[in-house]
Amino acid sequence: MTEQRFVHAQWSSRLAFILAASGSAIGLGNIWKFPYLAGDNGGGAFVLVYLLCVVAIGIPIMIAETMLGRRGRQSPINTMRTLAGEAKASSLWRYAGWLGVIAGFMILSYYSVIAGWAMAYFFKINSALFEHIDAANSTRLFEYFKSSPEFLGIWHTLFMVATMFVVSRGVSGGLERLSRFMMPALLLVLLILDVYAMNSGGFGRGMAFLFNPDFSKLTGEGVLVALGQAFFSLGLGMGSIMVYGSYLPPDVSIARSSLLVTAADTLVALLAGIAIFPLVFANGLSPSMGPGLIFETLPIAFGQMPGGWLFGMLFFALIFFAAITSAVALIEPAVAFLSENQGMNREKACLYSGVGCWLLGLGTVFSFNIWSEVKWLGKTVYEWVDMLTAEIMLPVGGVLIAIFASWVMTRADSEAELKLHDPRHYQAWLILVRYVAPIGVALIFLDALGVI
Ligand code: TRP
Repeated sequence: MTEQRFVHAQWSSRLAFILAASGSAIGLGNIWKFPYLAGDNGGGAFVLVYLLCVVAIGIPIMIAETMLGRRGRQSPINTMRTLAGEAKASSLWRYAGWLGVIAGFMILSYYSVIAGWAMAYFFKINSALFEHIDAANSTRLFEYFKSSPEFLGIWHTLFMVATMFVVSRGVSGGLERLSRFMMPALLLVLLILDVYAMNSGGFGRGMAFLFNPDFSKLTGEGVLVALGQAFFSLGLGMGSIMVYGSYLPPDVSIARSSLLVTAADTLVALLAGIAIFPLVFANGLSPSMGPGLIFETLPIAFGQMPGGWLFGMLFFALIFFAAITSAVALIEPAVAFLSENQGMNREKACLYSGVGCWLLGLGTVFSFNIWSEVKWLGKTVYEWVDMLTAEIMLPVGGVLIAIFASWVMTRADSEAELKLHDPRHYQAWLILVRYVAPIGVALIFLDALGVI
């Protein structure tokens, strides 16, 4: 190996790793996407399959991805190349890293549009329009907002500029410190919304919708969506957890840290669902409202609570912070690639990737208005970008990581890196990443394609 390994700084403690990894995992995926996908795919059965995917596929792959990162200690593409060299495997493995760079770029293009909605609602929620708002008016306001390419475009632009500012200035460290306070605050706000939902009159129906599985409502594609959401929400399959792993000190337990990050991520998603669905039923709305779900339901709660406008502003501000920590992690690989491998300086790399992402994001902006009928095989631009990333690229990336960690890397190496005290735990992990994850993902793909 002639390649010089980067000398990396390390996390001061296990807590720093857990907070940073949770900061990238917890984002719009938990609060905006999980409830709307659960609503679109029939509720309980979707949630159950999602949880199964998190436990049987997500956790083992998160352990594998963190482990590869700590062993390689470089950016994902170079880590894959180094580890492949170490295991005398094909250097083609570096393309697994590439897949992640492209997926992150594509995800950010629409992530920014939705984060822009949260910014817009932060500024709107204290207007008189939202006072004691009912379901019909809340829906109407959202439809009006969504129908304007200019509005959506402006907020998308502002979010992208904010993200690229953070990335180009390299001030994401400050953001991470800030998110130590933001994440607990977000949890608290969600809990208060949950209490509100309990008294909304729709709690029983909301909980039944979320937790009573009715498998007749779940399609093969719905199962694939649940799998994709598990990867998306945990931020797996694209090398970003690998980056965090590369800073993890050698004596920290990878398995335990991964479990904690997964538990935090799942908790936030479930708490968001528990806050939203009772409101949906109490106000006679339909759970399958699509991407507008939280923007149509939560303002009803804010409009009715005493001091709700202030609480609403706090909520949307916290979503903004949760989104921007994820956004920075989504685009960083593309910026790093352009500046390390293409010889651009960091500002230029930021400019190119930011503008590229912004342009692609316009496709999502227009999917909600002037291009809402421009479809290919029944899907809008937004739906295509989302499907290609969450349902294809992330699961494929994740399975490549699983295969690499369990079939290519030697057992001695993975055992030494994971340092699990109980050999049965190592054995269980090995079975999950070797067989369960790849076969499970393959079966879900075949099922969604209608082959089985
Ligand atoms: N997990 C993030 C969320 O739930 C989205 C995401 C997917 C992500 N892949 C990522 C964030 C990689 C950071 C890095 O909102």
